[in-house]
Amino acid sequence: MPNRNPATPLSNNKHLLRWVEKMAALTQPAAIHWIDGSQEEYDELCDQLVAAGTFTRLDEQKWPGCFLARSDPGDVARVEERTFICSLSKENAGPTNNWEDPYVMRKRLKGLFAGCMAGRTMYVLPFSMGPVGSPLSQIGVQLTDSAYAVVNMRIMARIGLPVFKEIDKKEKRVVPCMHTVGAPLAPGQQDVPWPCNPEKYIVHFPESREIWSYGSGYGGNALLGKKCFALRIASNLARDEGWMAEHMLILGLENPQGEKTYVAAAFPSACGKTNFAMLIPPEHFQKKGWKVTTVGDDIAWLRPDATGRLHAINPEAGFFGVAPGTSAKTNPNAMAALAKNTIFTNVALTPDGGVWWEGMTDQPPAECIDWRGNKWTPAIAKETGTKAAHPNSRFTAPASQCPTIDPEWENPNGVRIHAIIFGGRRATTTPLVTQAFNWSGGVYMGATMGSEMTAAAAGTIGKVRRDPMAMLPFCGYHMGDYFRHWIMLQKSLKESPRVFFVNWFRKDEGGNFIWPGFRENFRVLKWCVDRSRGRAFARETPLGWMPHYEDIDWSGLDLPEETFDGLMKIDRAAWRAEVMGHEELFLDLHSHLPKEMLFERELLICRLGA
Ligand code: GTP
Ligand code: SPV
Ligand code: MN
Repeated sequence: MPNRNPATPLSNNKHLLRWVEKMAALTQPAAIHWIDGSQEEYDELCDQLVAAGTFTRLDEQKWPGCFLARSDPGDVARVEERTFICSLSKENAGPTNNWEDPYVMRKRLKGLFAGCMAGRTMYVLPFSMGPVGSPLSQIGVQLTDSAYAVVNMRIMARIGLPVFKEIDKKEKRVVPCMHTVGAPLAPGQQDVPWPCNPEKYIVHFPESREIWSYGSGYGGNALLGKKCFALRIASNLARDEGWMAEHMLILGLENPQGEKTYVAAAFPSACGKTNFAMLIPPEHFQKKGWKVTTVGDDIAWLRPDATGRLHAINPEAGFFGVAPGTSAKTNPNAMAALAKNTIFTNVALTPDGGVWWEGMTDQPPAECIDWRGNKWTPAIAKETGTKAAHPNSRFTAPASQCPTIDPEWENPNGVRIHAIIFGGRRATTTPLVTQAFNWSGGVYMGATMGSEMTAAAAGTIGKVRRDPMAMLPFCGYHMGDYFRHWIMLQKSLKESPRVFFVNWFRKDEGGNFIWPGFRENFRVLKWCVDRSRGRAFARETPLGWMPHYEDIDWSGLDLPEETFDGLMKIDRAAWRAEVMGHEELFLDLHSHLPKEMLFERELLICRLGA
């Protein structure tokens, strides 16, 4: 669309036009730009971001189409303390969410948003979560004063003209998403590279299906299709409509006979979803013809189909992946996906116009510019402990660039899910892999999941917290009702997926990971799939079904049986303490807790002999 006037509306939907007008009157932007989603528009916005100092263009030869952004040091992760579920009744948000009376919150937001876009452009950004036109997809429109958010959203979701068409055609319900960095510009005022506000609000109105985000330009706070829509609002839609919106990756495992099995897995933030989704089998299995393919790395929408089988789509179109620890050794597929057309945020800049982060290479560069924009050398790091890249630094890369992207990843009907895997980051207590005895046992496993906190959210790193189904920060309603929804879902299924629990992160006395992890996780995945297909053995334990040493295929890996025993050990004293932790969560949720959870807990206590 050469030379089009970006202020000209690209939709004739009256509700949309009226809303945009109303919001412009509230936020007072200097200009309005309707996003068509074209490459030209993207390039122009990136040029503007370079001119504003938000973006640094990387070397065109080595990193074609790539940019680096450095955020404000106070705006580096999701802010769970500032995230609100403003349902009409507090009861509906439940004890695990922050709640505020929606009338009070609306009033506060109106105040904050009044004039908040002064001196800036308001972008009208339509997006589809899921392939445009798929019966499983949902549409939103984000109004934002952040060009950074727009260009990231272009990678993470389907945006622009085809989505406007969808809105005009169907009069389909659209989720309004208001976003501002909360930094209006006075006439003549010089902008900063990363405008934001120390005061932040990430607010959801579940009944009216609205999102209002104030003060942050970063990740899940600002790319509103992701956690705000695809999880917090979508979990509400899903509850009402009989499906599930989950913090899950989706992968396919293909055996040498060509049989494909899809698996969905929920691990908390920064606990290995992207890595697992892009797993490359160990060499021995590759040679035999085993393949892992990627459907999604962070979010899954699951729904029973007409025949009672569970199907899933990845509502996203890109990866917003953790950079540190990503390397040609640990995750070559991610490295290939991010090699071009990628936006890096808060990684280090090397003197040759490239990027670096901790764990990318064995040898750090002799010198680079760290994520704060300061000179960094290995010597400085040793002395001060400064990291070159922020621990929550990220890459935004198109999913289509992943070498293992699954041929069905954009199938509008999704892929059939045979198994669900939960997993946490636990230095102790939780074994490498366990299969639940049945669906309600599986729901209990997911519901009582504990994990050590990571840098993906502002907070205490390393502390174990309950993170049910990896959804603690993302469930948009009462967690007890959410468990009930999980229990109920099985009733609409003819075949329930098998449910597993994994922990790649168990440590020895010296504080080292016992399990080699990464591609070796394939062996565990293979056992899970074989169990789901009814062709692998297991032994009964108090926690569930567990593999004997010989039930796992160890070809090409020398893992002594005693190491395996350590990984699989059930420490009864630790489990008694663990079950107390389950009770703490359940006490919080008691008025909404399905009775299955209490019975499962009693059974577990009995089996443990406690
Ligand atoms: P979000 O995008 O925040 O939802 O994170 P994620 O769940 O996708 O986590 P990701 O795959 O990005 O991994 C986070 C960190 O865990 C990275 O530093 C990885 O290197 C590390 N990691 C992933 N898999 C393994 C594993 O099997 N073993 C070990 N030790 N570390 C792992
Ligand atoms: C997570 O924290 O789980 C993420 C990153 O995937 S963000 O989009 O910021 O939520
Ligand atoms: Mn995530």
